[in-house]
Order: sequence, then C-alpha cells, then structure tokens
Amino acid sequence: MAFPVSVCMIGGDGETSYAKNSAMHEAISHLCAAAMPRCLPVADLGCSSGPNALALASAAVDAVRRHQPSVAEQRCREISVYLNDLPNNDFNTVFKDVPPFLREHEEAESGGEGPLVMVFGAPGSFYGRLFPAETLHLVCSSFSLHWLSQVNLQLVFRKNWWMDYGVLINKGSVSAGRTSSPAVNAAYTRQFEQDFKRFLAAGAEEVVPGGWMVLSLCDRYPEFIAEILQDMASQGVLAAAKVDSFNEPFYSPCLEELRGAVEQEGSFEILGLERHGILERGPRGARPWRGSCACWTSGLLVQHFRVEGIGDAYGRAAEERFMGPAAEEDTTVVVLVVSLRRRK
Ligand SMILES: C[S@@+](CC[C@H](N)C(=O)[O-])C[C@H]1O[C@@H](n2cnc3c(N)ncnc32)[C@H](O)[C@@H]1O
Repeated sequence: MAFPVSVCMIGGDGETSYAKNSAMHEAISHLCAAAMPRCLPVADLGCSSGPNALALASAAVDAVRRHQPSVAEQRCREISVYLNDLPNNDFNTVFKDVPPFLREHEEAESGGEGPLVMVFGAPGSFYGRLFPAETLHLVCSSFSLHWLSQVNLQLVFRKNWWMDYGVLINKGSVSAGRTSSPAVNAAYTRQFEQDFKRFLAAGAEEVVPGGWMVLSLCDRYPEFIAEILQDMASQGVLAAAKVDSFNEPFYSPCLEELRGAVEQEGSFEILGLERHGILERGPRGARPWRGSCACWTSGLLVQHFRVEGIGDAYGRAAEERFMGPAAEEDTTVVVLVVSLRRRK
C-alpha cells in the first residue's frame, strides 16, 4: 500500500489545543476514577515531528498528574508514551526533544513522587496493528485521521458522462470539495469510511476493555492549497494538467460520518462527539497553519509534480495569496473532538 510521503500540519494554537486537551483530561479522569493502572500506556497516533510532536504526550502526563488518586498506593507509577507516525516521519528530531521533555516533567514533580515517564517510537500505519493486544489505556490522535491510506484513483480517472475526454474529473479541487463531482465526493467518503473502520478495528485489538480513544479532526479541507496551486498554474510555474490531476489523500468527515462509522464498526461506545468553532482573526499569514505549508510541499507536491524547487515556489505563491485582500478575512476553524471507550 502506498502512503503519503508527508502531509499538512495544523499548528496547535491555544484554543484548538484546549478543545483537544479538555477531552483528554476527561478521559484520564475517568480512567483514574475507574482504577488507576500502575502503568499507563498511552499512544499518540500521527505525532508528526514538529513542535507539536510531544504536545499530546505532555498533556497526557499533566492530566495523569492532576487526576492521580490521593492514596499513594493507588497512584500510577509509570506512564509509557508511544509516539506513532509513518516510517518516513523524522523520528530522529522527535527523539532529540525527548530528554528536555522528560526533564521538564521531572522538574514539575515535587518530591520525586510523580510517575516515571518513558517514551517509545512506534513507526507504521495506524490503519493496521501497531501494538500488542490489549496494551493501551489511552489512544490520542490529533489532525491525523484526515490522511487516507490512498486516493481511489480508479474512480477518479474513470471516463464518464461528467468528464470531457482528457480532462480529469476533479478539476479545480485537490480533494473532495465544493467543485468536485458527486462521484469524486463519494469516492473520498467511501475511502474515509473504509480507513476509519480499519483504524477502529486495529484499535479495538490494542486498547484494553474500558480504555479510551480521543480523536480530533478539523471539519473542512484547507481550500487555500488548491487556490495556491491554481495560482502557480496560471503563472506558468506548474502545468495546469498536472494541477488538475493532483488529488490529495485528505478527507474532512462530518460528525455524522464519524458517528456512523463508530456505530457500524461496533467496538467502541461514543462518550463525546463535539464541534468546537474557533474564530481566527487577522492576517491569514499569521495563523498557525500558515507555517505548515512548507512541510506539506516537501512531501506530496514533490512526489506528484517532480519540479525542482517546488517548495520555494509554493512558499512564494502562498505568500502572495496570504498578502492579498482575502488575507484579512476572519475564518472559523471547526475542530471535531470524539471520545470513545472500548466496550468490555
Ligand atoms: C497534520 S499532522 C498532525 C500532527 C500532530 N498530531 C498535531 O496535532 O499537530 C498528521 C500526521 O499524521 C501522520 N499520518 C498520516 N497518515 C498516517 C498513518 N496512516 N499512520 C500513521 N501516521 C499517519 C502524518 O505523517 C503526519 O505526521
């Protein structure tokens, strides 16, 4: 199976982090109330390698510390944090950040009473098994489940009445979107459902009965990526046909789609399913996801366009677009947060 080389980052700014972390605190407080395990294995699926790579791990460790039972014998003594991403993730950089992360947590402990924290890498796809059966008490995943295992090219490229010969059917868009045909949208939806159910089925094996999953996703595809590529095509930097044939393995599900897949798969009960609308004001260029573009270009774009220096060219085109009139518009980023508990 082919995996995307590298994918888009959305920065963990204060409010989006709050939305994700409050659900994680809730999960951990339930785990602690049920019976705090002596060793708490926690996994972050799709940790990436940027400044956010240890953010979920850090929030989980903080939450355990905060919700520890008062009776010393009942406290969690060890937290093992498993950081997962695709094998081509820059784990070297992530692991270099581990010692300062551990030091910070040791320093936050008063009297050395806190749990011992250990960090492990778990390279591989979360659409299959990564961990031994019934080992994890908490699984978190933030802005990663959008990335599909593949784009269903067969359907996208099939000739049909809605396609002119030689013109690909997802013209003007690089994912399922407003300008995509119903067939393209359906193909993306199907792929997401299939992938998400595989994710849940693998998790069902790995999470202990009563264990939790806290998943966050954004509910809208960042349309600016297609806009920037169109700009580059009109400037002659990229061939228009190559832009038209570029389809990103990215899908933003709605809450109902998430609910439906969880219910059909059947291993988890839904304890929380929330949309958090976060208004972002001011220049688009200053927003957290702006910095993500460079990372995004380094992978999928290079792979598809095979144009030397495409990263820099994309950066310049993005800069121009972010400096334009639309750059000042406020936008609402909607974050979906799903809390699931493994059925016993
Ligand atoms: C947008 S980043 C999210 C980074 C971080 N979790 C955050 O909240 O900022 C998405 C990450 O998911 C990873 N990813 C995509 N598909 C994956 C898969 N099938 N298995 C594991 N990781 C995957 C990507 O490599 C990327 O690092």
